[in-house]
Amino acid sequence: MKMSRGASFRSWSLRWVVLLICFVGGKSQLTTDFYSTSCPNVLSIVRKQVQNAIKAEMRMGASLLRLHFHDCFVNGCDGSVLLDGSDGEKFAGPNLNSARGFDVVDNIKTAVESSCSGVVSCADILAIAARDSVLLSGGPTWKVPLGRRDGLVANQTGSNNGLPAPFDPLDTIISKFAAVGLNVTDVVALSGGHTIGLARCATFSNRLFNFSANSGSDPTLDTTMTSDLQSLCPVNGDGNKTTALDRNSTDLFDNHYFKNLAVNKGLLSSDQVLYSGDSSTASSTTKSLVESYGSNPNLFITDFTNSMIKMGSISPLTGSNGEIRKNCRVVNSS
Ligand code: HEM
Ligand SMILES: *[C@@H]1O[C@H](CO)[C@@H](O)[C@H](O)[C@H]1NC(C)=O
Ligand SMILES: *[C@@H]1O[C@H](CO)[C@@H](O)[C@H](O)[C@H]1NC(C)=O
Ligand SMILES: *[C@@H]1O[C@H](CO)[C@@H](O)[C@H](O)[C@H]1NC(C)=O
Ligand SMILES: *[C@@H]1O[C@H](CO)[C@@H](O)[C@H](O)[C@H]1NC(C)=O
Ligand SMILES: *[C@@H]1O[C@H](CO)[C@@H](O)[C@H](O)[C@H]1NC(C)=O
Repeated sequence: MKMSRGASFRSWSLRWVVLLICFVGGKSQLTTDFYSTSCPNVLSIVRKQVQNAIKAEMRMGASLLRLHFHDCFVNGCDGSVLLDGSDGEKFAGPNLNSARGFDVVDNIKTAVESSCSGVVSCADILAIAARDSVLLSGGPTWKVPLGRRDGLVANQTGSNNGLPAPFDPLDTIISKFAAVGLNVTDVVALSGGHTIGLARCATFSNRLFNFSANSGSDPTLDTTMTSDLQSLCPVNGDGNKTTALDRNSTDLFDNHYFKNLAVNKGLLSSDQVLYSGDSSTASSTTKSLVESYGSNPNLFITDFTNSMIKMGSISPLTGSNGEIRKNCRVVNSS
């Protein structure tokens, strides 16, 4: 039977619309009820393990939140950060001597496997554990989109090049976020993750001595805080010594991180630059976001939550891509 010109056109348009929906949908194939029949207790199992870990050491909430971030920025949220091996991401600059929580992830995985074997990915475990860590640190909660599968390779170069460094100029930080589909609002809201946790002297000591030809220390660092940090992190001291990212409320997930920035009390250069700015044209946008989050905790929480879901949706492996790792540290074939 011969179709009329109009019917044929409509049938073509329909095909394109279907294709377009599939394509756009590819970015958000994750669903919050992904394990509702295959592993109905996964959320409570993870919650309990994170609770135990945080009870043993409050900082672990921060460490688990950071692992999810370091996973998602490298080859998408695919559990690649968890893979062992000398060519792994654990040995990349942003993780070496600082990424932690791998034992806790092992414990969570063991508990999940004993209830539903071979079903839940390590990448999803990181996403749930990050959410639980924020909640159990006094922050907000949200429904975590799930259904990520685990990657088959680690990417040490990707970790070295893709993750922002604390010494990066604002433009560089913004372009590293843009490279994974995150914008300036996401940069500032997610930097609020530094409301909990610690950082090593090696990540900010460049601000303390010989900062520039004219000045011994970073002029955008509060002078009392400068002296405190100079004694904590002396020249040739232990670069692994740690101090709070948010000195006001180290273990509490609140908006104090942003209030600190407005009084030059950001610990990392990458924190303070969001408020104090540099030559970057985006400085005024980040500064006004910092001010908004500092004065409006609910706005911070709304934006942080949205940005966490966005970050958690970076290039997930779904369908038959990747695998469900049995052990988060190694791919199944090995
Ligand atoms: C904006 C760019 C970012 C930079 C330059 C950056 C850099 C850093 C650095 C240098 C540390 C300390 C690491 C060490 O001691 O060696 C750190 C810790 C941390 N970061 Fe970030 N970060 C950024 C964004 C984020 C994001 C998006 C999150 C999560 C939403 C996050 C969560 C954390 C947490 C929770 C800690 C403390 C971890 C712990 O105590 O174990 N960071 N970050
Ligand atoms: C590693 O990440 C980079 C992006 O930083 C990407 O171009 C490259 O294809 C990745 N390599 C592997 C093996 O996944
Ligand atoms: C960033 O993206 C979110 C949507 O994901 C949007 O609401 C927000 O306005 C964007 N921010 C900027 C600065 O473009
Ligand atoms: C600072 O610079 C001076 C002169 O270049 C040098 O002698 C000194 O060792 C430097 N101090 C630090 C802490 O790097
Ligand atoms: C931190 O400790 C590790 C070993 O635990 C050591 O190899 C490294 O040199 C130390 N880093 C700094 C900056 O002191
Ligand atoms: C935290 O900030 C509040 C004011 O916002 C202040 O009252 C409190 O003393 C600060 N706490 C610390 C430990 O700095």
